[in-house]
Amino acid sequence: MLGLLGEQGSDFAYKVDYANDIVTIISVVCTVAIVGAMLYFAVKYRQRDGVDHETPAIEGNNALEVIWTVFPTLVCIWVAWLGYDSFVDLRTPPPGAMEVNVTGRKWAWDFQYKNGKRTTSELVVPVGEPVKLIMTSKDVLHSFFVPVMRTKMDVIPGRYTHEWFRPIKTGDFQVFCTEYCGNEHSKMLARLKVLPKAEFERWLADDSEERKLAAMKPSDRGKELYVAKQCVTCHSLDGSPRVGPSWLKLFGKQGQLASGDKYTADENYIRESILNPQAKTVAGYPAMGMPSYQGQLSDDDLTGIIEFIKTIDGSQKIEVAPAAPPKKADAALASMTPAERGKALVADSSNMCLTCHSLDGSKVVGPSFKGLWGRKEKLSDGSEVQVDAAYIKESVWKPAAKIVAGYGPAMPAMYEGKLTDENLNDIIEYLKTLQ
Ligand code: CUA
Repeated sequence: MLGLLGEQGSDFAYKVDYANDIVTIISVVCTVAIVGAMLYFAVKYRQRDGVDHETPAIEGNNALEVIWTVFPTLVCIWVAWLGYDSFVDLRTPPPGAMEVNVTGRKWAWDFQYKNGKRTTSELVVPVGEPVKLIMTSKDVLHSFFVPVMRTKMDVIPGRYTHEWFRPIKTGDFQVFCTEYCGNEHSKMLARLKVLPKAEFERWLADDSEERKLAAMKPSDRGKELYVAKQCVTCHSLDGSPRVGPSWLKLFGKQGQLASGDKYTADENYIRESILNPQAKTVAGYPAMGMPSYQGQLSDDDLTGIIEFIKTIDGSQKIEVAPAAPPKKADAALASMTPAERGKALVADSSNMCLTCHSLDGSKVVGPSFKGLWGRKEKLSDGSEVQVDAAYIKESVWKPAAKIVAGYGPAMPAMYEGKLTDENLNDIIEYLKTLQ
């Protein structure tokens, strides 16, 4: 009705919205009527000289008493019924719902399916089927909130809680943690991916990735992740300088932090630097240079990367395969509009745009894409620039050329050759839609 709660993604969302709308409308009407009457009488019966101020003694009015007791009681019962009715829906998963185990931890969500498949920060479900989440926490209280599904439940260490929903549309939706759980609480996010049923079945049955990883030596897994997670963009293996320190002979190295303290690159230091890069920045490197990998890497992944770093001791030259080319079939891209192609490029995780640029106006490592097109930006050298096609292309290909005031030189110079002029024109068309 009022659309206050946004997009509706589950079959009970409309009920929750209806109850919310009714309560909102009643509240607004009562507030306006009561405060309005109060102001009206305050003005009308204000003190004026020569007027008798004595209030008449009114002895009651049975008709009025009955009306203003019975009518609000009926309204309250109706509102309670609306709430109860949708609450029962929310708390009663239909028998046969697909179960997914959810574990909250500081600060990420892990999911496990009945066939053993695991994901982190990404919950994939089929459209039209009821999904029941069985949830627990490894450490502190969290809360699993899927706004588009209108469902939310606390996640508690040492016990199981549950919530369920039946998605009515496909798409990517946001999941939040809504229980303050520590300093990275606001980053404890996940994606809910609703797929057509056949596509979901294919995704669920595909365990090639897991088997490959499980069969690998930790250091090989780390080597693979070095490319797959784009570490390669900022950290070289041969000692050459990039945005971040080279990994050559990194393990065990001692040096100075930007804070002036000393560091030793042991397992704990490397782990912390991957999960919370801003905690200990090495002197001479940009403070905001690295995005956090919190929630994107499992403990096995982290161990793998650390083991890989240990192998880069200079005793042998290490070759890595180049990053995989974009997977999107050209045919599918050709049938899209330029703005759709741009959206796909921005969303493609191998391009990493969304690691540092938000779509909703919030400040991450770089400026948000929302409202970017046509905006006047103040640069760090004090000059101003209007965001147009030429500026965007320059900023992507030569990120260091013009830095917006308030941001660090954090963007990797990896896009020249990776994104063509055509790609950028598509991305620009997409940016124009983000006003
Ligand atoms: Cu977990 Cu907030």
